[in-house]
Amino acid sequence: MATLRLSVVGLCLLLIALPAKGANILGLFSSHSQSHLILHMSMIKTLAESGHNVTVVTMMKPTITHKDIHLIVVPLTAVQEQILEGQIKEMTGQKNSIFSTMNRMLNGMSVMIESQHQLLSDARFQRIYETKFDLMFMGFFLNDFQLGVAAKLQVPVIVSWMQAPMMVIDAYVGNPSELSYVPNIQTPLGRGERMGFAKRLENFSKYLFLRVMLMIFEKRFDNFYEQQFGQEPNFPTLAEMRRNVSMVFTNSHSISEGPIRPLVPGIVEIGGIQIKEQPDPLPADIAKFLETAQHGAILLCLGSNVKSTDVKPELIQAMFKVLSSLKQHVIWKWEDPDNTPGKSPNILYKKWLPQDDILAHPKIKLFITHAGKGGITEARYHGVPMVALPVFGDQPINADVMAASGYGLTQDLMQLNEENFKAKIEEVLGNEKYALAIKSFSQLYRDRPITAKQSVLYWTDYVLRHKGAVHLQSPAVHMTSLEYYNIDVYAVFIAVLALVLLLTWLALRCTCRKLCGKSKKVKRH
Ligand SMILES: *[C@@H]1O[C@H](CO)[C@@H](O)[C@H](O)[C@H]1NC(C)=O
Ligand SMILES: *[C@@H]1O[C@H](CO)[C@@H](O)[C@H](O)[C@H]1NC(C)=O
Ligand SMILES: *[C@@H]1O[C@H](CO)[C@@H](O)[C@H](O)[C@H]1NC(C)=O
Repeated sequence: MATLRLSVVGLCLLLIALPAKGANILGLFSSHSQSHLILHMSMIKTLAESGHNVTVVTMMKPTITHKDIHLIVVPLTAVQEQILEGQIKEMTGQKNSIFSTMNRMLNGMSVMIESQHQLLSDARFQRIYETKFDLMFMGFFLNDFQLGVAAKLQVPVIVSWMQAPMMVIDAYVGNPSELSYVPNIQTPLGRGERMGFAKRLENFSKYLFLRVMLMIFEKRFDNFYEQQFGQEPNFPTLAEMRRNVSMVFTNSHSISEGPIRPLVPGIVEIGGIQIKEQPDPLPADIAKFLETAQHGAILLCLGSNVKSTDVKPELIQAMFKVLSSLKQHVIWKWEDPDNTPGKSPNILYKKWLPQDDILAHPKIKLFITHAGKGGITEARYHGVPMVALPVFGDQPINADVMAASGYGLTQDLMQLNEENFKAKIEEVLGNEKYALAIKSFSQLYRDRPITAKQSVLYWTDYVLRHKGAVHLQSPAVHMTSLEYYNIDVYAVFIAVLALVLLLTWLALRCTCRKLCGKSKKVKRH
């Protein structure tokens, strides 16, 4: 009897915890960057593996796929592709601040935004409206006018974002953007470092700047939304759709990465989602090259947006001279196998390589990286110290944060020469403190109640089970800034206080005059 009751209870528990299997899920990932796609697709692959029917729309062919993912690729036109490539090449040749990058997004690089708008009216995309979906994922990158697709499909939305939560992301789910201690992603801060006056001032100025930029972008987005969905009957506004985002998955893990800050339940951190919990076996040539590395090995990889062949030849030669003089083995990601920087027995060039699996190899002592978020995350997961050679976009910031945390050193790629490159490599290889710091981080990063993959599955199913999980929403989403910051309440308080002070002062003055007047009169008499 008892066992029967137990098994009934067990069955009920099982039913409650049972994921909403086989839901129809749409992933809309139109940002034109392979490094973004890797994160989004890793998340989607987890869902496909668990039995969901996933359809994904992208503008580039993703490197990560799965046989059960229905893929719709709507590539850029040749002209757009050319403009973008030209812009990236230009950015590679100079120092890029957040200001110039934003400016570029609005002007030279505006194809990045416009193409995401054009995508929505493309016939290949429009086919998705034939399927009855249950949920939509939107990869966030200056594209939230695409929330109209969810309104049209009448499904809840989960936003997927490649970094720690920031201003716009916070706004979707009413997360507090704490002004005085949560550093702006543009304000690098080392782990455990506090924000002094100057940092707070810097962060606040950048925050204001971003706000203004955002208003300009939002004006454009409102236009796009109107063009795409203006004709639909009884359609919610874009502002309403922004307030209706069910959840945001961020690629962060603030407990280990910092800053320690409040997160509403609508923000779920899935940092490290792209990292395999168990590395795959390496290709035979790489495995052998690493096994025979008596003094350890170095991995050099300058990312997917910047091709090594775009970098100035003098720089490449300086790098080659330094690397070929080392006793460590070096695996160098190089796109053009017929045209390598030079031959050396300790260097292996590979057009493509499984970066994550290589970083997991115990022989790897150093990672030389362009400081993309993905590569840094993998190195931190596996505890490999770095020398960063940032070029543009978020790379200089990522590199500064990495160096400030003590995980390695950074060297502006444009300023690289033999001396500084060699010195930095020798310092990171020779001084144990970098390896120790990143290994201790790696332990914190992996210490979680459930893995990133389990979080994705659990919270996606949660949103599906509870039809958008509206109950999770913070009331802050529906407040104006005036209400949110309690300004009206402060105003009333200050007004009352001022009134009381004024009345007291008047009363005192009056009494004083009377008394003085009397005493004067008395004197005169
Ligand atoms: C899976 O999704 C595709 C759309 O990509 C759709 O055509 C198909 O009907 C879906 N399968 C099920 C079982 O709903
Ligand atoms: C710092 O930046 C974060 C992220 O944008 C923001 O939430 C916070 O309000 C900023 N703090 C200051 C002091 O500007
Ligand atoms: C907001 O989301 C809920 C649940 O996901 C949905 O039922 C509702 O229709 C949405 N509202 C709008 C305006 O789209």
